[in-house]
Amino acid sequence: MAIALETQVVTKQYENAGQAIRAVDEVSVNVKAGEFVALIGPSGSGKTTLLALLAGLLRPTGGNIFIDGSPLWQMSDKDRTQFRGEKIGFIFQSSNLVPYLSALENVELMLKLNGRLDKSGREWAKELLDQLGLKDRMGNLPSQMSGGQQQRVAIARALVHEPAVVLADEPTASLDTERAYQVVQTLATLIHAQNRAGIMVTHDLRMTRWVDKVIRMTDGKVAQIIESKGEIEAYSRGSEH
Ligand SMILES: Nc1ncnc2c1ncn2[C@@H]1O[C@H](COP(=O)(O)OP(=O)(O)OP(=O)(O)O)[C@@H](O)[C@H]1O
Ligand SMILES: [Mg+2]
Repeated sequence: MAIALETQVVTKQYENAGQAIRAVDEVSVNVKAGEFVALIGPSGSGKTTLLALLAGLLRPTGGNIFIDGSPLWQMSDKDRTQFRGEKIGFIFQSSNLVPYLSALENVELMLKLNGRLDKSGREWAKELLDQLGLKDRMGNLPSQMSGGQQQRVAIARALVHEPAVVLADEPTASLDTERAYQVVQTLATLIHAQNRAGIMVTHDLRMTRWVDKVIRMTDGKVAQIIESKGEIEAYSRGSEH
């Protein structure tokens, strides 16, 4: 499998009232195409900061990030904005859908932003929503859908432009357990089937049962990488912390 995302000793340091905080401290990890990774760790360990660095939203103070082989932070701002739109899909904690657009229009918006809203693009948006079990909800506004349905629309929106990398920051935080399982399982299935590199931040260890790799952070550093199926399973059952 090709490496779709790689960080090389990436660091993000904040200055807080004269005090330096290394929110992300020399992190070197990679994710292959078709691989779904859980990013876990205690509050304040740097998960969201790392995701923002990977998404091209926050500039690292050190190190390099490669997305699909290209150095994200060595591009001009203009190039990075375009690159980000093409190569990265992002799913937020709450679905962040545009409230006055229907489910289908929310998904199509990502294609529009990439100049790809043609007939085949429209078909693909519909097919994705269909695969996510939303065939009968395409015309609904976000306010006319359940939390789980909204989050599935957000997944479709993050995948529709066929990004190399899909980043999700606690996508199940606002869902009950049953809905959360469904959303993560669907996300995993699509990431595998479409050969995307996925990273999901989660506080809920049970959600790791669908991932291929677990990266655990503490104090901005990678504390542990778990790749064996057996160990991941033990983790997801909560028998190891
Ligand atoms: N803009 C900022 N300025 C200064 N410090 C920051 C800033 N953003 C985050 N931090 C600090 O960086 C560290 C990592 O924060 P981050 O949000 O990445 O953690 P997290 O692992 O996502 O936590 P949580 O699980 O609570 O979401 C924390 O100590 C936080 O206080
Ligand atoms: Mg966070």
